[in-house]
Amino acid sequence: MTTPMGESDVATPLGMGLVGAGGFGAFCLQAFAEMREVSVVAVADRDLERAAAIAPPRAAVYGDLATLLADPAVDIVHVATPPALHGAQARQAAEAGKHLFVEKPLAISLDEARNVVRAAQRAGVKLSVNYVLRRHPLHQLAAALVHAAALGPLQLFSLENFATDDRLPPEHWFWDPAQSGGIHVEHGVHFFDLCNHLAGQSPTAVSGSAQRRDDGRLDRVAATVIYGDRILATFYHSFNQIGRFERTTIRLGCARGRLQLDGWIPTGLSVDGVVDENGLAFFRHHFRDLSIDERFSGAQSIFHHGGIAEKLVASVRATATYSRRQLAYKEAIQAGLRDLVNAIHTGDQPTIGPPDALLSLAVAVAASRQHSQKTPGIRTGEPGR
Ligand SMILES: NC(=O)c1ccc[n+]([C@@H]2O[C@H](COP(=O)([O-])OP(=O)(O)OC[C@H]3O[C@@H](n4cnc5c(N)ncnc54)[C@H](O)[C@@H]3O)[C@@H](O)[C@H]2O)c1
Repeated sequence: MTTPMGESDVATPLGMGLVGAGGFGAFCLQAFAEMREVSVVAVADRDLERAAAIAPPRAAVYGDLATLLADPAVDIVHVATPPALHGAQARQAAEAGKHLFVEKPLAISLDEARNVVRAAQRAGVKLSVNYVLRRHPLHQLAAALVHAAALGPLQLFSLENFATDDRLPPEHWFWDPAQSGGIHVEHGVHFFDLCNHLAGQSPTAVSGSAQRRDDGRLDRVAATVIYGDRILATFYHSFNQIGRFERTTIRLGCARGRLQLDGWIPTGLSVDGVVDENGLAFFRHHFRDLSIDERFSGAQSIFHHGGIAEKLVASVRATATYSRRQLAYKEAIQAGLRDLVNAIHTGDQPTIGPPDALLSLAVAVAASRQHSQKTPGIRTGEPGR
């Protein structure tokens, strides 16, 4: 419980209030129920029956956010309504003095997102966005490898996300950009945030494109994001696949090797490359499944590449797996909320806070804006064509 001074008692669970008792809200409630740090005290949905169906036994059930915000037992609001509502609801919750755990995206426009951040700052409440990918152990391992430059600097991030639409009928809010913000904003933000985190810097240029199916629904989008002369990132999402053929792959290219992550909630990471002494120490420390294919010594250990010469000691291959996908998903949600609770108790910023939410949304909005602009056809200028 939060005291009037804004300080909090670590031993007492904070009261959680969920707004948006849909599919994902229900999944999150199961994750929250296992946590000692919080207790779900209220659930609100404009569909009261839905809220009542998933609310824990002693939790209050409300038909709108305003009533939930008036409940003094609620310390943190989890906003899990469709994306177009996030900005206004999160701001309203901040103005009511509640801490914020917001589903991605923080809002569907940058202006709205900035307003949420300002409202949270004014009210002195903490704000985090539920970017589960960043909390996943395999993404964290890949990030540690990239940040340690174990295979040299990151140069390429390449996402292929072949997603299914088998749970997305034509009338679903997902297809209406006014409600979802479009694919880059609703879904792509996860990957823009992950890529920004891996890059460790802000993008310098963004471009986007999109394609429609025959009924006019925009179901494939792509983006290219540039980080100066250092990193090129490409993102592709198609929401037209058969469920059993869904595939998500992230390939990372470093100066001396490559990484591959399989699955949107990844189940496998494979790596191969050439390492120096520090890189080898990194691999030994982090990977149980490591093979050292070749050892280099003497003149053979000096490699000239990319305009530099490096002394390298071995070529390596490694894999890591995390086959319990649903468990990893649930644990990622718990880790995100735990981090927010920790920030509330310590006064620090959450590890995923307003700057990450704003930057990833800025990239998503820029990619979407680009694909809505018509560009002239390609012409060679050759006569007769
Ligand atoms: N972080 C993740 O991995 C992840 C995964 C899936 C979905 N999401 C996000 O979670 C959010 C919810 O997605 P979902 O699939 O559960 O959607 P959903 O349509 O199943 O649920 C949305 C719920 O919000 C309720 N609602 C709508 N307007 C409301 C209002 N004004 N006040 C109160 N309740 C209202 C609806 O009645 C519904 O129960 C979306 O923003 C989505 O992007 C995040």
